[in-house]
Amino acid sequence: MEIIQDIREMQRRASELRLQGRRIAVVPTMGAFHEGHLALMRMARQRADVVIATLFVNPLQFGPNEDYERYPRDWEGDLHKADSVGVNILFAPAVEAMYPNGYQTYVVVTELSRPLEGAIRPGHFRGVTTVVTKLFHLTCPHVAVFGQKDAQQALIIRRMVRDLNFDIEVLIHPIVREPDGLAMSSRNVYLSAEERAQAPALYRSLRWAEEAIRAGERNPEKVIEGMRRILRREAPLGHIDYVAVCDTETLDELVELRPGREVLVALAVRFGSTRLLDNVLLTVPE
Ligand code: PAF
Repeated sequence: MEIIQDIREMQRRASELRLQGRRIAVVPTMGAFHEGHLALMRMARQRADVVIATLFVNPLQFGPNEDYERYPRDWEGDLHKADSVGVNILFAPAVEAMYPNGYQTYVVVTELSRPLEGAIRPGHFRGVTTVVTKLFHLTCPHVAVFGQKDAQQALIIRRMVRDLNFDIEVLIHPIVREPDGLAMSSRNVYLSAEERAQAPALYRSLRWAEEAIRAGERNPEKVIEGMRRILRREAPLGHIDYVAVCDTETLDELVELRPGREVLVALAVRFGSTRLLDNVLLTVPE
């Protein structure tokens, strides 16, 4: 596996690969790889000749009181894991190279960045869309792979790609879970043993919502209330940031669940300063 840290070198390499007619897939990441990341890389491997994984803990998407400094980093482990799933190039630029002094250009997807995560982490998605745009320019991919765990991010990136006419196919990989249902996340390592034991309640509440809707519940408020009840009972150490039943395209909160409609049921729960996200996509039965 090739390691590239220099921005110009990455651009030069990407145009060389394009000139050779190679199909490039990019998997943007912030490192600390787990099975979820490796699944994205395997998907990329199947869709392209050259897989570029980017590893960049992007300061722009962290708020002043968030965990940028203590975000997990595992350079050696990451190299080994990326190599083991067939990544060809690991691109890991320095912060000063991505955002040199005087940097002042941002990409914002206005409406979709406002609710859910956007309401709790102002500026977060501006950081994500800005860095993803830069990474797209630097790696010139035909395909880009993201994870469904960050459902709002996935939707925002799709919107941005459409709105800004990036000629890139965006693929979203389903959530990869631990055997007890907890969605894999780099931040899971911060959970204490007690919090870790309670964390699978997030997925149980989502499963309950799926079941309730399948069994005929059509009132989103009742679905949300039932999920909150499960979370309060089974994850008392968690603070619920939000539980929402939304339109899968606009993220508008729904007032009724019409048959045939695609819905996103999403939640965020904080254990201490560790925020966990999870979601399910479903179609309301006829
Ligand atoms: O999902 C992530 O890890 C990050 O938000 C991303 C897409 C790599 C941008 O920094």
